[in-house]
Amino acid sequence: MTGLLAPETNLTPRHARIRNYVMCRPDHFEVSYSINPWMDPEKPIDKALATAQWENLRTLFAELGHYVQTIEPAPGLPDMVFAANGALVVDGKVLISRFRHPERQAEARFWAEWFRKRGYTEVVRAAFTSEGEGDYVTTGRAILAGNGFRSDPRSQAEAEALFGRPVTGLKLVDPRFYHLDTALAALDDEEIVYYPGAFDAESLRVLENLFPNALLADEEDALVFGLNLVSDGCNVILPEPATGLAAKLRARGFRTHHVDLSELLKAGGSVKCCTLEIRH
Ligand code: ARG
Repeated sequence: MTGLLAPETNLTPRHARIRNYVMCRPDHFEVSYSINPWMDPEKPIDKALATAQWENLRTLFAELGHYVQTIEPAPGLPDMVFAANGALVVDGKVLISRFRHPERQAEARFWAEWFRKRGYTEVVRAAFTSEGEGDYVTTGRAILAGNGFRSDPRSQAEAEALFGRPVTGLKLVDPRFYHLDTALAALDDEEIVYYPGAFDAESLRVLENLFPNALLADEEDALVFGLNLVSDGCNVILPEPATGLAAKLRARGFRTHHVDLSELLKAGGSVKCCTLEIRH
């Protein structure tokens, strides 16, 4: 049939793929310690608001057709809401994190239990410090691995051996972007977006080589955690204030959805941090 071409047909057609996510309700969320520059225990947080914001995100995922499971939040682990840090799951294999800071180390056991109880057989506890999808970003067959603040570069070889996929190390240099997922995101299997100011010169060369068509974000969008987004290949969910980045994404044919996660940002996290993807 002809004659139905909409004006936006010059945009790259985007295809959403249904995803499996795990989230953790912020029942015990608070900022009682500081392990990144965003956390100020003196600054009050509103737990009811944090919960409402988190629920909005969960509802949005469901409305977009994705599956969302949850892990029971554990008392005394206020950062467990940042589910992305618990593991990296690729081809149904699970690399359980080894957290850098003692404040978060107990989370790992709950994640290992969660996967074992659900029948996952390859559940491996990382031997070196690695913080799951906080520092591992998967795009197509490639896995990008951030280091410099949290994850130990030696964990890359471990991920490569477990998943049998190439893992590319990237060095983070700005403490405000202490996890890879605060500075870089996968938009689909080939396309990424990143904030260049977060990486050292060599990593920037690597990124330019691997992803010559990457979308570049500016500091303003990075500082409101715009890069901490979740994309299903068509729909991109990102923090409300990242309006510049949202416009760039729409110009590339993505649909953007804004969520307000201001309370979670007080702990240095946003959309992606709250979302662990399970890849079967
Ligand atoms: N307060 C948490 C920490 O510093 C925030 C983690 C954010 N998660 C993420 N995937 N970047 O560990």
